[in-house]
Amino acid sequence: MFLTLEGVEGSGKSAVLAGLAHFLEARGHKPLLTREPGGSPLGNDLRPLLLRDGVKLDPLAELFLFQADRAQHVAEVIRPALASGSWVLCDRYADSTIAYQGYGRGLDLGLLRSLSDTATGGLWPDLTLLLDIDPEAGLARARRRNNELGLSQAEGRFEAEELAFHQRIRQGFLQLAAAEPKRYRVIDSSAPLEEVVRAAVQIVETWGTLS
Ligand code: TYD
Repeated sequence: MFLTLEGVEGSGKSAVLAGLAHFLEARGHKPLLTREPGGSPLGNDLRPLLLRDGVKLDPLAELFLFQADRAQHVAEVIRPALASGSWVLCDRYADSTIAYQGYGRGLDLGLLRSLSDTATGGLWPDLTLLLDIDPEAGLARARRRNNELGLSQAEGRFEAEELAFHQRIRQGFLQLAAAEPKRYRVIDSSAPLEEVVRAAVQIVETWGTLS
């Protein structure tokens, strides 16, 4: 079972990932938790290039780095885990490319889909949870969390983008969800995080394949 989490910055993906892992472990599963960019050793090297503010990247260079990260991640981490029967919970995947590089940066959506198909060998998630929140509220939540954790307020390349960029991404995700209602479930992520986590667990619980 391959499950992905998507949403704008501060949409609560980390809390939901932890909540789902807890739920699955309590039922005897050993889910693999991973993320993009950065789910493989190569990805860990690519991650700072993609996220650090001040790195100048042409949109196409950015796209190919995300796809390089993804190709390695799928080949080295995701496919072997799925082949061994594990649940894979991934924080962001190919839908983020369509939302960020497509709706956000303006690259051609068909090209993005076809490059993701090539990078993943056609592997798309069984279930995608979209944590939907107004980007302004999401960014504020992300900053609050960083404060609470004592992390620096230094913003990454994406957080530093203007609000309109994040709003296009939110709308992009909503369009992707509407176009693929069988794979996507949308959760209102403006609710308190405990409620968001509960809603996600309920969806997974009723997904049908759990013992
Ligand atoms: P990350 O620090 O993991 O942020 P978040 O907690 O919001 O997931 O940063 C990942 C960033 O990379 C995020 O801003 C979205 C962006 N991204 C893309 O633009 N395209 C992609 O294909 C992926 C996977 C992520």
